[in-house]
Amino acid sequence: MKNGQAKIDYNEFVKEDRVHGSMYTDSDVYQEELDKIFHRGWVYVGHASEIPNPGDFRVTTIGTQSVIMVRDESGQVQLLMNRCTHRANAVCQVERGNTKIFRCAYHGWTYRNNGDLQGVTYHDRYGEWFRKEDFGLRKVPRMGMHRGFIFGSLSPVGITLDEHLGQPVKEQLDLFVDLSPEGELDVTAGTHKYGYRANWKFQVENSMDGYHPNFVHQTFFTNIQHRTGAKLTNLFASGSTSLTRDLGNGHVMLDYRPYNREHGRRMQELLPTRPGGQAYLDAMIARHGAARAEEILTAGGTHLFIFPNLVLIGVHLRVIRPVTVDQTEVFLYPALLKGVPAEVNASRLRGHESFYGPAGGGATDDLEMFERNQIGLSARVDPWLVLARGFRQERPDVDGTVVGQITDELTQRSIWRQWKKVMSQDGDTAARRGKPRQLAATAVGRG
Ligand code: FES
Ligand SMILES: [Fe+2]
Repeated sequence: MKNGQAKIDYNEFVKEDRVHGSMYTDSDVYQEELDKIFHRGWVYVGHASEIPNPGDFRVTTIGTQSVIMVRDESGQVQLLMNRCTHRANAVCQVERGNTKIFRCAYHGWTYRNNGDLQGVTYHDRYGEWFRKEDFGLRKVPRMGMHRGFIFGSLSPVGITLDEHLGQPVKEQLDLFVDLSPEGELDVTAGTHKYGYRANWKFQVENSMDGYHPNFVHQTFFTNIQHRTGAKLTNLFASGSTSLTRDLGNGHVMLDYRPYNREHGRRMQELLPTRPGGQAYLDAMIARHGAARAEEILTAGGTHLFIFPNLVLIGVHLRVIRPVTVDQTEVFLYPALLKGVPAEVNASRLRGHESFYGPAGGGATDDLEMFERNQIGLSARVDPWLVLARGFRQERPDVDGTVVGQITDELTQRSIWRQWKKVMSQDGDTAARRGKPRQLAATAVGRG
């Protein structure tokens, strides 16, 4: 950044129907993504069900900054920077657990699980100017929660989480969460973790790509067809009635509902034939009424991307974490449903594992595509990636969202449009370095 102006004119590199390859490979672009997308906007952090009891915590990141998501003694969720206010040691080293106190290993300062500084070793040598209340763990400036999904923003100002999500996304979150007759998820079943040597945006684009499944996942679909007779390739064919949908603000989805209705893939009809299914269906109707239960079960969850780092597909939450310009980590958290027979949750997990697990038949194929993408990007003779499928064939839906056919690249174009909008905002280098902190009255400051 120079003089507060964007040094890269992203209009030159991100067109309506194509994107320049350097947007995936340029380390200056990557740094600006961290500053403007991850270290300023709303970023998904974790789910409230992961920390149900006072003292429960999980260490995570916002962009590349380490954060502790913790439930304090009063039951409040806190997002604390994992950084000792003495000399910046990370105070928490384990991924998750339960504690009343975070103790910094370097010089032994201790913090309560709400971030307050509790104890300073050999306190007397600081003198009277030192006030413990000035040195609590710093909080993530803004935190918001919707239906248990916790988001943080490292910027103290900006649009609210409510504005960021918007009504269409909240409706999709409802469809995902209300598969539970109690309206609550349990995101503690475990985590699949994987990494790949390519840019983070490949996983984002791929997660919302209805064009690739019939080719990348051909073997998986062929096996399903042999076993069950179901021809899943029809769902992702060019004649399919399923849709790509732009929900605004870079949030997009693959919408299978029209196809499911047309082809009788309605879960409420299948449920009674499955273990625990009838009791589940009865509980859903008791909770929601028959019409809404049918709506929720026909959607069967969602297939949703919440800009910039959260994906909901099938039964799982997928969190995408950029590590470097060409390294990415991905975390999959299968969500169990509260209030359903155990067989229903077991079935969700087994289905998840069959495609997304380490020995599953699907997700590993996508990873191979990302690394091949990164190889292809080294060729700059023609540096453009084409996102023109279905371009100018989009149409507005009755709810104001914009839809295309399932194989259209509407979803990728919508993500890039938001990406360019955010990346073209004025910069703030202080966001990267951290603003100088004003101490109330240090020994030096009083001199
Ligand atoms: S860095 Fe934490 S106590 Fe010194
Ligand atoms: Fe895939």
